[in-house]
Amino acid sequence: MNYSEAKSILDKHGQGHVLKFWDTLDAVQQAGLLSQIEALDFKTITAIQALLKAGGEPAAPSGAMKPAPVVSLQASGASVPRALGEAALRAGQVGVILVAGGQGTRLGYEGPKGTYRLAPITQASLFEIHSRKILALERQYQTSIPFYIMTSEGNDADTRKFFAENGSFGLNPERVKFFVQGTLPAFHQDGRMILESPGKLFAAPDGHGGILSALGRRGMLADMTARGLTTLYFFQVDNPLVDIADPVFLGVHLQRRADMAVKVCAKCSPDEGLGVTVVRDGRTSVVEYTELTPEQKNERLPDGELFFKFGSVAIHIFSLEFLIRELSAGLPLHQAHKKVPTCDDQGKTVKPDKPNAYKFEKFIFDALPDAKESLILEFAREDEFAPVKNADGNDSPATAGAAMMEKFARWLAACGVTVPRDSRGRLTVKIEIDPVYAHDAASLAARLPKGFQATGDVLLKG
Ligand code: UTP
Repeated sequence: MNYSEAKSILDKHGQGHVLKFWDTLDAVQQAGLLSQIEALDFKTITAIQALLKAGGEPAAPSGAMKPAPVVSLQASGASVPRALGEAALRAGQVGVILVAGGQGTRLGYEGPKGTYRLAPITQASLFEIHSRKILALERQYQTSIPFYIMTSEGNDADTRKFFAENGSFGLNPERVKFFVQGTLPAFHQDGRMILESPGKLFAAPDGHGGILSALGRRGMLADMTARGLTTLYFFQVDNPLVDIADPVFLGVHLQRRADMAVKVCAKCSPDEGLGVTVVRDGRTSVVEYTELTPEQKNERLPDGELFFKFGSVAIHIFSLEFLIRELSAGLPLHQAHKKVPTCDDQGKTVKPDKPNAYKFEKFIFDALPDAKESLILEFAREDEFAPVKNADGNDSPATAGAAMMEKFARWLAACGVTVPRDSRGRLTVKIEIDPVYAHDAASLAARLPKGFQATGDVLLKG
């Protein structure tokens, strides 16, 4: 793209100001700005301008909402689905998708969040914990499980380097595929894109929903097809408890021939930041907690349970067919009012102290209403969900690390091993079990030496 092509398309979309400082830029800066402009998706920009003009979020469906039906395995039993899930794993039909393109702002950690060292004793990183779970499955089922990792422009190089330096944590690097998600500019209220500096548009990752188009654009759907995959397990980088490619979840999804499946758990409180699963206008969907009214959040049944009780923790299964179909459907955009560094009239970058701009993101759960058949499965929070979001307090490394150790302690207890605790019931030793050593109480029982005692810290490595 050259200057006059850029000018023509920008003018057409009311974005002429982007070239305001053109004459002050050197050749490298000019080339950088042109390549940013070339990569813009003007169809999306037009949609954003319309959204801003209309005052925000896309109009929500109007019908009344009721909680979506949830499958509970306690009620329905798990042996048939487990066999189906295991057969799909053995046949090499299952792949794993990890979204790791986020900026981890709340954690405030330099570097990709997956490189955060969380394991209680070895300090293994989140990426290592996840990768070892996949390795354990590959060994258990004598199969191959391709691992698709979505990064963003800001963390792609560091993520690839981390895997390369660590020998892909034992996984075959040929089956670990990285792909970069897209970005979206930020906007002034009047629909103009924000210049961060004279030669640079501000751009941020387009949300975990950006995965749909990125999978297509970066050749990942073609790769999945070529490998004969049918079913994709999806999760987020910040949850060390995740039960990756859990055969029972896979099995229920396959049994129902679902397009998309969602794992949910009971919310801790009305204000917990989880989207709830609902049926509205005959379609199942996830409604973000920010989009519920205070009345909807707090509504309770006569027995005291929350009416919208179940929250989605972004653990999904997709059929490959559905992902391919959804490519052309596209996902809606969600708006957030944020602080964005902005170039002033003199070309100086100013950091605002209050929100000054609109950023837009796509959310993967917005695919759910398009599923012809879907499934919502309940799981036990303490076994599968302890996210690392904040530096301290709730959902922090401290709570996630403690949740990991309590899960391991439950496995040990199921094997008859008593774990030392203080008078208030808190663990007095550290516990870490490598996923390759054991992935649940049964596999631990099969490996634990006879008469094993937990007198000090327990580290069981595969
Ligand atoms: P969060 O919404 O928790 O965002 O992402 P985050 O970037 O990790 O943290 P904050 O909000 O900046 O503090 C949930 C999951 O979605 C991924 C993240 O990497 C995480 O696994 N994600 C989020 C992306 O892959 N891309 C995005 O654009 C946003």
